[in-house]
Order: sequence, then structure tokens, then C-alpha cells
Amino acid sequence: MEATAMAWTVGVVGLGLLYWFVWVMGAAEVKGKRAVNLKMGSITRDKVKDKYTQYWSFFRRPKETVSAADKVPAFVDTFYNLVTDIYEWGWGQSFHFSPSVQGSSHRDATRLHEERVAELVRAGPGQRVLDVGCGVGGPMRAIAARSGAHIVGITINEYQVARARAHNRKARLDAQCEVVCGNFLQMPFPNASFDGAYSIEATCHAPRLQDVYAEVFRVLRPGGLYVSYEWVTTPLYRAADPDHVDTIQGIERGDALPGLRAQDEIAAIAAEVGFEVLQERDLALPPAGPWWTRLKMGRIAYWRNHIVVSVLTLLRIAPKGVVEVHEMLYETARHLTRGGETGIFTPMHMILCRKPLLPAPAPSPAPEDDANQ
Ligand SMILES: *[C@@H]1O[C@H](CO)[C@@H](O)[C@H](O)[C@H]1NC(C)=O
Repeated sequence: MEATAMAWTVGVVGLGLLYWFVWVMGAAEVKGKRAVNLKMGSITRDKVKDKYTQYWSFFRRPKETVSAADKVPAFVDTFYNLVTDIYEWGWGQSFHFSPSVQGSSHRDATRLHEERVAELVRAGPGQRVLDVGCGVGGPMRAIAARSGAHIVGITINEYQVARARAHNRKARLDAQCEVVCGNFLQMPFPNASFDGAYSIEATCHAPRLQDVYAEVFRVLRPGGLYVSYEWVTTPLYRAADPDHVDTIQGIERGDALPGLRAQDEIAAIAAEVGFEVLQERDLALPPAGPWWTRLKMGRIAYWRNHIVVSVLTLLRIAPKGVVEVHEMLYETARHLTRGGETGIFTPMHMILCRKPLLPAPAPSPAPEDDANQ
């Protein structure tokens, strides 16, 4: 009797393991026909879990202090060390959203959203265009291929620089696409050295939007165009509604954001640094298809991937901490979906700006009131 029970247990467990193995391999196969790459950025293997803890400690900092703003670049860098591989594995080479397009694949919808940028800044052959916060370069390659422009991307994360350069070579776009490691709040480029610039869901990582906009303004030539897709709360957001606050905080925590801005602040900030604002529009509004469906439909995949990373960690193929990071991204997807469904959040508030041809006149001295003199 005992022996039969034992045989049954072994049989069931064995079959289960076999099934899992096939499933894991199947998942690796489906995702771009390559092995799962979970190196976790440039973090050494044994430090992944520590870095994850360090990432979370950022949110326990005293708010609104100068030192907190100073910590943001390192915090964003840590975040991208933790998530870059998982993003590439589960999402592809473009780390941003796009409205879903009926009858089109995610890949095509993503490309359309990127090519719109090329059109907005009128990128063309012979031009030098800056990609502010370029990630692993999905958008850069689409825009270079579409427009013929020379694209220079900047990212704070060294690991992303290496990934982007490798992808550029593979796509045979390395002559047209350059990648620089640096902080977009202090860019290593001379004044007026670009014909155009864009940022796709990247400036949300800046503690003060003024600082990154001022840098873009500085490196653009007079007359140059800049378009940005901003992550913002919409006028539907109510700070007094605990559900809204929970959703927005969830998005901030899971995406390395020092604090989301409101939609109606953006144009004023652009004007403050000297830009002319040409156009502003929430690209998520109808008739655009919802951008968050991709996250929703991904739930089954998320669970399958959770099992995959757990097994890989157990087998010590993936470093410790990957499961936690994956869990964090799953939670974040929930908050993002909620933000999309309630309409309180958009990741694609588009603003198109121009650096004026003539420098703004120096403020004239206030007229003296000499009536009483
Ligand atoms: C570059 O631009 C900044 C800000 O517009 C200005 O303060 C600085 O003097 C300029 N540098 C040079 C070398 O022109």
C-alpha cells in the first residue's frame, strides 16, 4: 500500500516537473526566440537583492529635501539595473506604452507611436536628433530607420548603453545611432548641438522637470523642435480620493518616479525655460485605443513568468532578488492598469515645443513710478 502511494507521488511529481520544464522552455522560445537573459544589469550577482532593498529605501527618505533630489539619478540607475532584462524579456526593446491599434500587433502600434515623434520634430537626413533617456534604443532605431536622421541617445544606465549599442549593431544602424552614458540633467553636449530632440516617457524620472527641459533647451539649436511624451496625472485625479492616491503612489514606487506631475503644469514649465509651446495633447484620449490593455492581457503571462523566474532562481540560473523585482513589476502593472481605466493617469501627454530663433529679450527694468516724485 505504502509503496503504491510512494510510486504515485513520484510519478505525479515527476510528470509535474517534466511539464514545468517544457513550459519554461516554451516560454523562452516564444519570447523572441532567445534564451532568457536575466543578468540584472551591471549588478554583480550576489548584490541584486541588496540593490532591490536599496531601491525601496528611497521611498522612506524624508520628502522634499535637496539630498533626496540628489539621490534620484543613482536611484533611477539602480532601477534600470534591476528591470532592464525583465523589460526586454517581457516587453521588447521599447520601454514605453502606445495606444492599441485595432488590427495591429503591439509591435506595430509601438512603432507608430515612435514614428509620430519623427514627424513631430520633422527629423530628416543630415540632422542630429537627441533621444533624452533612450533606454535600450527601441525608439531610436525606429526613428532613425524612418527619418534617416542621425540619433544620439543618452541614458544614465551603463548596462542599457551596452544593450543599446549591441542592438544598434545587430540592426545595422550603428552608423546612424550613437549612445552616450550620462545624466540628462547635466548633458555632456555643447550648446546648440542638435537640430531636434525628443523624450519618450523618460523625463518623468527627473525630480524637477525644469532642469531637464532647460538642458534640452540649451543643447538645441535655435528653431529646433522638441517633443516629449510625459507621464502625468490628468484633471480627473482627486488628491482627496484614497483610491486615486493609492494608484498614483503605486505607479511612482514601481517605476522609479520621484513624483508624478499634473498635466496642466507641463506647458508652463516648458515656457519657463524659454520654449514656445506649439502643441499639447493627451495621446491616450479617444479615439486612441487604450494603452493599458497590453498589461491586462499580460496577466496570465505574468504568472507564467513568475513561475519561470522562481524556477530559474531555485536552480541558481537567475540571481536572488529577481523574483522580488518581478513581483514588483506585476504590482506596478496593476496600478498602471487602474490609472488607465480610471483615466486619472496618462503616460503619453504629448508636448511639442520650439526653441525660438531669437533669444528672448532680457526682462526690461520695471517702469519707475515717478508720479509722486
Ligand atoms: C550655454 O548655454 C547656457 C545656458 O543657455 C549659458 O549659460 C552658457 O553661457 C552657454 N555656454 C556657451 C559656451 O555659450
